[in-house]
Amino acid sequence: MRYRQLGSSDLQVSEISLGSWLTFGGGVEDVHARACVDQAFASGINFIDTANVYARGGAESFLGEVLVGRPRDSYLLATKLYFPVNGDRGLSREQVHKQIDLSLGRLRTDHVDLYQCHRYDKETPLEETMEALTEVVRAGKARYIGFSEWRADQIQAALDLVPRVEKFVSSQPQYSLLYRVPEREVIPLCERHGISQIVFSPLAQGALTGKYEPGQSPAPGTRAASPTMGWAMDRFRDDDVLAAVQRLRPIAERLGITMAQLALAWVLRQPNVASAIAGASRPEQVADNAAASGVDLDDATLREIDSAVADVAVR
Ligand SMILES: NC(=O)c1ccc[n+]([C@@H]2O[C@H](COP(=O)([O-])OP(=O)(O)OC[C@H]3O[C@@H](n4cnc5c(N)ncnc54)[C@H](OP(=O)(O)O)[C@@H]3O)[C@@H](O)[C@H]2O)c1
Repeated sequence: MRYRQLGSSDLQVSEISLGSWLTFGGGVEDVHARACVDQAFASGINFIDTANVYARGGAESFLGEVLVGRPRDSYLLATKLYFPVNGDRGLSREQVHKQIDLSLGRLRTDHVDLYQCHRYDKETPLEETMEALTEVVRAGKARYIGFSEWRADQIQAALDLVPRVEKFVSSQPQYSLLYRVPEREVIPLCERHGISQIVFSPLAQGALTGKYEPGQSPAPGTRAASPTMGWAMDRFRDDDVLAAVQRLRPIAERLGITMAQLALAWVLRQPNVASAIAGASRPEQVADNAAASGVDLDDATLREIDSAVADVAVR
């Protein structure tokens, strides 16, 4: 496993990290989820992403339970707030202080390494949010702060408040071969300001692993076939998208890597990406994904990959 510096922080995060949306705290049976966490450590993954809203606190509680026996300095923990949980929502000062304490309680730790705004809160003045996050950092409850899916002008507005408030070190956008929107504005802005991307859905929720074929029903046991999780990936189930993904198969085969590794190595080709946050329902997937770290794609291969999915990628 290779590690990259997270923005202007002193954190070294594994190039592949472990996500917990839809999987931990209920989506995947705890015994399998626990095996995924064990495999992550065995593969050199040191960075775990969660959120207060995942399984309504269940993902954090699960992680608190499975991580409790491990030295706190053997992993980096990132969580988030914003989305509604138990009647609470948003990024007001009150919410920031309340939610960090609830998250720390569930995670059974006295600090997280990264505390992220899950979205921008249009109903709270930005200054109020940034001041509250700064108070959380100064209280030692979070080492660094980040955001997820903020627009470039919102990021710039937060940067304009520095040094009066803590500076963001990470941005968590959706980014994959099928969704390249951050390349337009967010990545160039963040690059100039010491903010790294830690990207979500880098496998397009499994679609980029090649396991879904156009015109065919998803195999049992996959996210797409799940009655509770399938809704989340509807837009990647389009036949044109799945046909384009199949055009990546010969490229991966020629390189002797899996399609998952090809998709993850592709996001990691971008130096501003510090880590690809991949979810997993089985430990074999964690091992497969972790092995993408260290795969370098040359320029000719990158051009071939680009043209294979050019007509379906959202830019
Ligand atoms: N900030 C945000 O708003 C936001 C939004 C979404 C996600 N996230 C974060 O990013 C993480 C990852 O995102 P994601 O779960 O949406 O998408 P993903 O990582 O692209 O896809 C994960 C799913 O793909 C399948 N998979 C993973 N590795 C595989 C492999 N090697 N071979 C075959 N199938 C494989 C598994 O599903 P099955 O086995 O069930 O098919 C797995 O649960 C989340 O867990 C969360 O931490 C953040």
